[in-house]
Amino acid sequence: MPYRIPIRMIQRKSKMLCFCAVTVLIFFGIYQTFTFADSTRTPRAFGDDLENEIKAIESKIRILEQKGSKKFPEVKFLTYKDRKRILITGGAGFVGSHLVDRLMMQGHEVTVVDNFFTGRKRNVEHWIGHENFELLHHDIVNPLYIEVDQIYHLASPASPPNYMYNPIKTLKTNTLGTINMLGLAKRVRARLLLASTSEVYGDPELHPQNEEYWGHVNPIGPRACYDEGKRVAETMCYAYEKQENVEVRVARIFNTFGPRMHMNDGRVVSNFILQALQNESITVYGEGEQTRSFQYVSDLVDGLMSLMNSNYSLPVNLGNPEEHTIMEFARIIRSIVGGDSKIIKKTAMEDDPQRRKPDITRAMKYLGWSPKVPLMVGINKTIEYFQNELRRSRHSERNFHMPDTLQI
Ligand SMILES: NC(=O)c1ccc[n+]([C@@H]2O[C@H](COP(=O)([O-])OP(=O)(O)OC[C@H]3O[C@@H](n4cnc5c(N)ncnc54)[C@H](O)[C@@H]3O)[C@@H](O)[C@H]2O)c1
Ligand SMILES: *[C@@H]1O[C@H](CO)[C@@H](O)[C@H](O)[C@H]1NC(C)=O
Ligand SMILES: *[C@@H]1O[C@H](CO)[C@@H](O)[C@H](O)[C@H]1NC(C)=O
Ligand SMILES: *[C@@H]1O[C@H](CO)[C@@H](O)[C@H](O)[C@H]1NC(C)=O
Repeated sequence: MPYRIPIRMIQRKSKMLCFCAVTVLIFFGIYQTFTFADSTRTPRAFGDDLENEIKAIESKIRILEQKGSKKFPEVKFLTYKDRKRILITGGAGFVGSHLVDRLMMQGHEVTVVDNFFTGRKRNVEHWIGHENFELLHHDIVNPLYIEVDQIYHLASPASPPNYMYNPIKTLKTNTLGTINMLGLAKRVRARLLLASTSEVYGDPELHPQNEEYWGHVNPIGPRACYDEGKRVAETMCYAYEKQENVEVRVARIFNTFGPRMHMNDGRVVSNFILQALQNESITVYGEGEQTRSFQYVSDLVDGLMSLMNSNYSLPVNLGNPEEHTIMEFARIIRSIVGGDSKIIKKTAMEDDPQRRKPDITRAMKYLGWSPKVPLMVGINKTIEYFQNELRRSRHSERNFHMPDTLQI
């Protein structure tokens, strides 16, 4: 597949070579001045020394060269007509960074906007410097003026400890931030996809939840900043659609897991994996009979992209309807990790929903989408990531999860 070497990179490389050549000459000059003064040396020894010196310099040049030229995964080439300019807010986060990988591999121009509240630069670091990629440190609570064709609006803290840390900021991000992104979409006539959440259903009285269900949310509870923030973000999308003809897509995302998910945000999968990897007891709240369903992140990314490119504008659930009890998850994870963690029960948590399961009929019907990755495959990949994360943090190295090129 054709891949253009960025001009900038060539320039940088040739500059570096010039620099190295000059260095060699200077070294050579200094060397000569000193060695000619040294009359005890024989010409032969002089030649050997010089050769060694040159070899050492050559190997330094090689090291410098390796540092300077960064290798990117090979991306597809799209012509001007097919290539889109795509903005991903929250693109340095868990889900966003996987979306970045996929869109980059497809050959699009991707701009990530993130304030690094929960996102990390290293989630997208493997693209920095690529001609199709741009990373902007920007808080979406402030307006943004750029030219794009599509906006994946993912910026928002996503797990309870993160969104409860600063509820006002969570509200501002979901309200002002969403208004800003819809304003941008309106100005540049871009299509916007909102990453909404199953939390809009609150503590549901209907199982499984379909998109017609209006939800059961406490407007003044501790989760309200997030739940109500996302609910009003959906409202805003449809107001902009109706009043300003902005094209909107709304994905109601259910629990998702995979590499680059946060280690310490108290979610079931990450908790269990970390406990098992560290030989600590795996803690299950209550009897462990409550069920959960988790989708693997690559399935979610597939769903987000097909929703964005579909003509379906009502909310769509994206999740994996396969239910497992919490106790099953604990056993599965322990058996894969090995080690000798015990599974212990603690008193049930308050407001812990007994069941959470998406009805994905709509996604299947309008997008032809359903989750593909078997639970075990996803769990294995996530365990591998966490293992690296723990091992490297002990050696203060950094853990990169590179895009899975074979999958794309
Ligand atoms: N992961 C899940 O299980 C799940 C479930 C439902 C919904 N979602 C939604 O998907 C989206 C992504 O979630 P995630 O799991 O990747 O979370 P994440 O925390 O990893 O990613 C969110 C990103 O948004 C950025 N951000 C937050 N506030 C911002 C602001 N004001 N300006 C700019 N950037 C900001 C963060 O730094 C982070 O990079 C969120 O909108 C979340 O509500 C996720
Ligand atoms: C956990 O226990 C297993 C075997 O019992 C051992 O191989 C592993 O090193 C232990 N890990 C830690 C982090 O202690
Ligand atoms: C949406 O697209 C499908 C096929 O891609 C088509 O059958 C359907 O009529 C379209 N619906 C609308 C509302 O445009
Ligand atoms: C997951 O990992 C375990 C242990 O390494 C292995 O036995 C199993 O076959 C793997 N399963 C899948 C589906 O990859």
